[in-house]
Amino acid sequence: MKRIALLLTILSFVFIATSAIKQSESPLSKLMKTMAADMKKARLDIVKNKKPKGFGKHYDRIKTAAPSSEAKKGEHFQEYAIGFLTQLERMKASSPETAKTEYNALAKTCVRCHETYCPGPISMLRKLQVP
Ligand code: HEC
Repeated sequence: MKRIALLLTILSFVFIATSAIKQSESPLSKLMKTMAADMKKARLDIVKNKKPKGFGKHYDRIKTAAPSSEAKKGEHFQEYAIGFLTQLERMKASSPETAKTEYNALAKTCVRCHETYCPGPISMLRKLQVP
């Protein structure tokens, strides 16, 4: 019985530790995860030749959201962020005929910033393109 109690104690510590790590995720990271989920949904519409709706809310927080480390928001970050937000407006203003082109251009602005500041998700971001 003692062993089981010990095991349960260890397990609850592991649980508390992992949830603490999740909570310490940076605001920029959280925003990025929402953006990635939105882009995947938008892609499904684009594949069906539909214009994606209702996405791109609060994305301007990209300019101010705190990153997990200062290095991730270097000298050119704001330029890339503005490039991304400008293309987002073009995508929102697109017609059903031009939506795919503007969507693909938007996915490229994700990759462009990531090449400099966060290379990890690049292969996933490239897959957002619709041929
Ligand atoms: C202006 C630069 C920039 C743009 C544009 C950008 N990202 Fe990011 N992204 C970052 C940085 C920097 C991080 C790391 C955040 C951190 O560690 O706090 C990041 C992190 C991520 C992550 C990992 C989140 C995590 O913690 O697991 C994903 C996924 C992601 N971005 C997707 C996207 C998508 C999708 C787009 C386009 C819709 C995009 N990003 C556009 C800079 C950018």
